[in-house]
Amino acid sequence: ERVGVAFSGGLDTCATLCWIRREGAVPYAYLADTGQPDEPDLNRMAERALPFGAERAVLVDCREHIACSGVSAVRCGAFHISTAGSYYLNTTPISRAIIGVAISLRMEQDGIHIWCDGSTYKGNDIERFHIYSSLWHPGLRVYKPWLDTGFVCTMGSRDMLEGFVSSCGLAWGVRQALPYSMDSSLLGISYEGKTIERLDSGPCDVRPSTPSRKGTVPRTRRLTLTLNEGWPIGLDGKPYASTAELLQDLNRLGGSYGIGMSDQVEDRILCFKSRGVYEAPGLTILYAAYDRLLTCAHDASAIAYYRRCGYCLGRYLYAGRWYSPSAMMLRDSMERWIARFATGDVTLTLRRDAPHIPADTFSTALAYASDVATMDGETPALRPWDRAGQLNVADLAASVNACTVVRYGLL
Ligand code: ARG
Ligand code: SIN
Repeated sequence: ERVGVAFSGGLDTCATLCWIRREGAVPYAYLADTGQPDEPDLNRMAERALPFGAERAVLVDCREHIACSGVSAVRCGAFHISTAGSYYLNTTPISRAIIGVAISLRMEQDGIHIWCDGSTYKGNDIERFHIYSSLWHPGLRVYKPWLDTGFVCTMGSRDMLEGFVSSCGLAWGVRQALPYSMDSSLLGISYEGKTIERLDSGPCDVRPSTPSRKGTVPRTRRLTLTLNEGWPIGLDGKPYASTAELLQDLNRLGGSYGIGMSDQVEDRILCFKSRGVYEAPGLTILYAAYDRLLTCAHDASAIAYYRRCGYCLGRYLYAGRWYSPSAMMLRDSMERWIARFATGDVTLTLRRDAPHIPADTFSTALAYASDVATMDGETPALRPWDRAGQLNVADLAASVNACTVVRYGLL
């Protein structure tokens, strides 16, 4: 039997390859190129699978799809949770959707109909991969080593994993283990587990992939994003054909100012509380620009729907339901009726010592009419006595309603 392993390059997926060989099947390694900033040489990383028993190592380019889904999530406000103004922009759930689909389709092309991935049994990824891998690959069978007692008994700890690998005649001589688990893509990085599980370990225990280079970047940096219907198409006047490239440039810029870090406590799919530290500089900047255009273009009711439906959609996305009918319904309506109005240029100011602040907004679709709203001077279309009439109507409505509550003894 041939088994396709979603390969991460880490110790456990390497051990999984050895294990599958030892059990008499033939493993194939599939590594997703997610634009992970911490891995400069993905071809070399894929080839790391070969000595561990992989028949072939395949690199699957997911960058553009991940970038586009990330933008789509921002356009729909599909965030998971927010804590005091900072967000988890669902960067891991988005990349899982794309990786699951892209790798399983590639396996189907290669005639491989058994999927395997290294996610553990308490996490979210196990369910996300389960759903997405079989979505467009009918008849796909799934092998989850961390649900297999034989595997778990042999590989229970990092030492046991290393022991198993060396019993296969191989050495695990790579990098020391990090004090947390990390998942990265061009959308951002998620950190969780180990030291982060302790609620009293500060977020500074995480070494951001793009350390804020205080002192080496100017104190402030202005940048202009051009959006077309909520889609980023230009940065500082330079047009981009690739959304992935634009996000990567935005990550570098924002990352050097330490933008888009957050420390959250979330409810996993299994409802356990879990702490995560997240980093998404580019998407955070995009969201700031998009939100500024939205709030200038839409009325309060549309904005409230966007936020409420966005949180709801964010939970579907988090739970691996990005392609479910309920999620698609919300996505279609928000892309169509909310995002379409966000066209224009937004100039933001990045500051070394503070989060970004929106500065200047230029758009062709604005509900913002400063000539009408201005507190200075008169507006011919709205006279003081018009407002007096409106206050009379408000009074009347209030007195009728007050009569009702008083008359029926509700107050
Ligand atoms: N808790 C987050 C989520 O479920 C992040 C998971 C990140 N995975 C990891 N191996 N660090 O989306
Ligand atoms: C894992 O350990 O499986 C990754 C973390 C997660 O799924 O939340």
